[in-house]
Amino acid sequence: MDKKEQVAREALNYILKGDVVGLGSGTTASQFIKLLGQSDIKDSIVGVATSTASEKLAREVGIKTVDIDAVDWISLTVDGADEVDKNLNILKGGGGQLTREKKVRNKSKNYLVIVSDDKLVERIGNRFPIPVEVLPFGHETTKKELEGLGLTCQFRGDFVTDNGNLICDCKPLTRLDLNKTDQQLKIITGVVETGLFLGGKKTVLVSDGNEVKVLK
Ligand code: A5P
Repeated sequence: MDKKEQVAREALNYILKGDVVGLGSGTTASQFIKLLGQSDIKDSIVGVATSTASEKLAREVGIKTVDIDAVDWISLTVDGADEVDKNLNILKGGGGQLTREKKVRNKSKNYLVIVSDDKLVERIGNRFPIPVEVLPFGHETTKKELEGLGLTCQFRGDFVTDNGNLICDCKPLTRLDLNKTDQQLKIITGVVETGLFLGGKKTVLVSDGNEVKVLK
């Protein structure tokens, strides 16, 4: 079976009647949204979308959605990832919606990350650069400040996030202390959020096409 479909299908088993479900972004999360839309439980849950694309898809498949501010908490968020290391640190933002994804994750009692096995890495930031959401105002100045932290940075063409901001992809030049780098990035004025999803309780489902492993 297709790895993304297999892991998305498995995620359905984690949804309970009456849940407020955080709906992730990207191709794997989209598979999950489509399958949730076909499930019996669909009419008993409400979704909180992490992007305008996920919101649109949810509506298309008949899932009722509410604004994040309309709920006190989210029961479970199901989202994809670009990289997962052995400590279950996550890199996200390949689709550029990392701020909404993190905001929804932060309001969730449970966080379920669904990936194919090619997303497992020894160290985060080696394969993919770290996406950083940056305000358009003074973005070139912000980029220089990011580079001052020992990163090679490049704006993602003319891509604009759902929040009207830019994504600057930052490649580490040396091995990084992820927590320290995340803190250093976030105190730069003009940085909105980073694609580093470090720490926090989570469950990661990994598909290799045959079976789905559960990492906690
Ligand atoms: C969206 O901004 C991302 O964080 C995605 O969740 C991540 O890029 C994984 O996407 P795929 O499931 O398409 O690989």
